[in-house]
Amino acid sequence: TEKWVFMVTAQTPTNIAVIKYWGKRDEVRILPVNDSISVTLDPDHLCTVTTVAVSPAFDRDRMWLNGKEISLSGSRYQNCLREIRSRAGDVEDKEKGVKIGKKDWDKLHLHIASHNNFPTAAGLASSAAGFACLVFSLAKLMNVDEDPSHLSAIARQGSGSACRSLFGGFVKWEMGSKDDGSDSVAVQLADEKHWDDLVIIIAVVSSQQKETSSTSGMRESVETSLLLQHRAKEVVPKRILQMEEAIKNRDFASFTQLTCTDSNQFHAVCLDTSPPIFYMNDTSHRIISLVEKWNRSEGTPQVAYTFDAGPNAVLIARNRKVAVQLLQGLLYYFPPKPDTDMKSYVVGDNSILK
Ligand code: PMV
Repeated sequence: TEKWVFMVTAQTPTNIAVIKYWGKRDEVRILPVNDSISVTLDPDHLCTVTTVAVSPAFDRDRMWLNGKEISLSGSRYQNCLREIRSRAGDVEDKEKGVKIGKKDWDKLHLHIASHNNFPTAAGLASSAAGFACLVFSLAKLMNVDEDPSHLSAIARQGSGSACRSLFGGFVKWEMGSKDDGSDSVAVQLADEKHWDDLVIIIAVVSSQQKETSSTSGMRESVETSLLLQHRAKEVVPKRILQMEEAIKNRDFASFTQLTCTDSNQFHAVCLDTSPPIFYMNDTSHRIISLVEKWNRSEGTPQVAYTFDAGPNAVLIARNRKVAVQLLQGLLYYFPPKPDTDMKSYVVGDNSILK
């Protein structure tokens, strides 16, 4: 057999939604019931690094996640691989004397190795970084000539939130209106330099894996929650416009109000689901109270909070000075002892630092 291998390595950060995606109108194509907006974290902190390789010596597609082989047979992986292969271009390496034509990619097999630099079990949106990185690295390997928005529509079919990690800074996922999902794509609202005073602190309240996956949680909410219908039709469209304004003007007061209210409404939808879904715990609620009291006592908001499908708090401080005070407050009220449920903190510069 011919002895050559082509490889590409890419690194992709995760993203945190400030206007949440919750609910699919099409579960197969992963099309949401509303637009969402997120901030992509600094690439050096919570991220996935993926290496993809192709060689005639490989006899089937295989993937390893954090060193352990996983199955690629699920539809999410299969859809991403199929979509990328169908857009593959010609690749030539004159030194190696190897040429892969568009058509050859269907016969060649891939090996994929992916690592998260943060605990996968901590419920910190590992699938967002993972699928974005997979699609991006495969697109590079196969010389796919598509812009990031088109690639985002492929990553979306792996995990909805992944489409937003194809861009840095502030990103909107437009729900789109077409049945085939071709207009359900991510667009960048502002790049990572636009509002770089912000510091994101993630308070890991529990590193246990969530009880209800986002897939089954969303399905149950879509089937049973009237609040979800109201949110998707009446609330989010206006909120998206207001959030775009707040980001454009770096209006922290408005940004905080929208971010906190939206997180609370998402968790209210979870409570309105039958049977109810509890993602936050007592520690999460205490963090909300602490931040709300602080913001009120200062007269103007200093910190925004948002929670995804788990109890961990994502806290966005208006600047570095506030972030330091916030950390001091967290350490005072939630001393990280081995027997408490608040174990660690990660801090950042428009994202994350240790
Ligand atoms: O993309 P998923 O299936 O992991 O869902 C993500 C859902 C939330 O994190 C709760 C909200 C969001 O917009 O990221």
